Amino acid sequence: MTDALDPFRLDGKVAVLTGAGSGIGKATAELFASVGASLVLGDINEAAVTAAADAITAAGGKAVGVRCDITQKSDNDALVGRAVADHGRLDVMGNIAGVPHNQMITDVTEEELDRMLAINLKGPFFGVQAALGQMLTQETGGSIINVASSGMDFAAPTLAVYAMTKAAVASLGRTAAIEGAHKRIRVNTIAPGATVTAFTEVSVTDEEGNINADALDGKIKMLTGASPMQMVGEANDQANLILYLASDASRFATGQIWRCNGGAPMVW
Ligand SMILES: NC(=O)c1ccc[n+]([C@@H]2O[C@H](COP(=O)([O-])OP(=O)(O)OC[C@H]3O[C@@H](n4cnc5c(N)ncnc54)[C@H](O)[C@@H]3O)[C@@H](O)[C@H]2O)c1
Repeated sequence: MTDALDPFRLDGKVAVLTGAGSGIGKATAELFASVGASLVLGDINEAAVTAAADAITAAGGKAVGVRCDITQKSDNDALVGRAVADHGRLDVMGNIAGVPHNQMITDVTEEELDRMLAINLKGPFFGVQAALGQMLTQETGGSIINVASSGMDFAAPTLAVYAMTKAAVASLGRTAAIEGAHKRIRVNTIAPGATVTAFTEVSVTDEEGNINADALDGKIKMLTGASPMQMVGEANDQANLILYLASDASRFATGQIWRCNGGAPMVW
């Protein structure tokens, strides 16, 4: 008898995920492994991504962790190349790695702008380029999921650089969806709202790496209050959406922006 959840399974599918050492990427890796995917996980934090892969393997899943700096085209190519070398194919690419940024426009240096564009824009572009290049050589379709942000949905001081990189990622997804459609390669973008991860801590962490617990608490309360549901998200809220988009459950969905955000942009 078929199970209603069968379309969500990833048995026999090969997935590459960036940013898998922490937060949404790590939660997605664990979820994908639990539904049968073989994983190649990339992150600039080698220790974290190796630990994430080892934990999945210890729990009976299939994963390898690889150091990858998404700002480098060659690193993105190497991640996809590893999937093909180990498993002969690529079915799913999750371009999840990204970093926050909060600075008034007039304070942003050219170096800082270049750093942010390299991580949040060139990174996903190279990831899409590598995945699409591989998937177009296959005759079995594929699914690419890019991560934007609800930061692109509203205007707030200090968000300019972050929001424009994420708006560009959403735009990239629509073009990529058109370029892959004839081979049944789907490309979708998620735009998460406030999701508590290490990402949330960046703006309340000092240069020595100490987190200001009171400031973090205040920030989470502020983010909670911004949602009409009075809640913030967890990494799994985004991972569940990414699984839907990766799996055959969403086989008719492409070129869209998916907003799992507690409704905050409706009332901001
Ligand atoms: N957490 C949120 O509230 C939120 C909201 C909207 C969008 N997002 C987006 O979700 C994605 C994941 O964020 P998260 O919340 O899981 O954050 P996170 O900080 O927990 O994880 C991000 C991961 O990306 C990795 N990374 C950073 N730079 C990299 C690079 N150059 N190459 C490879 N890996 C790199 C980090 O080492 C880290 O493991 C990001 O693209 C972020 O912009 C997050």
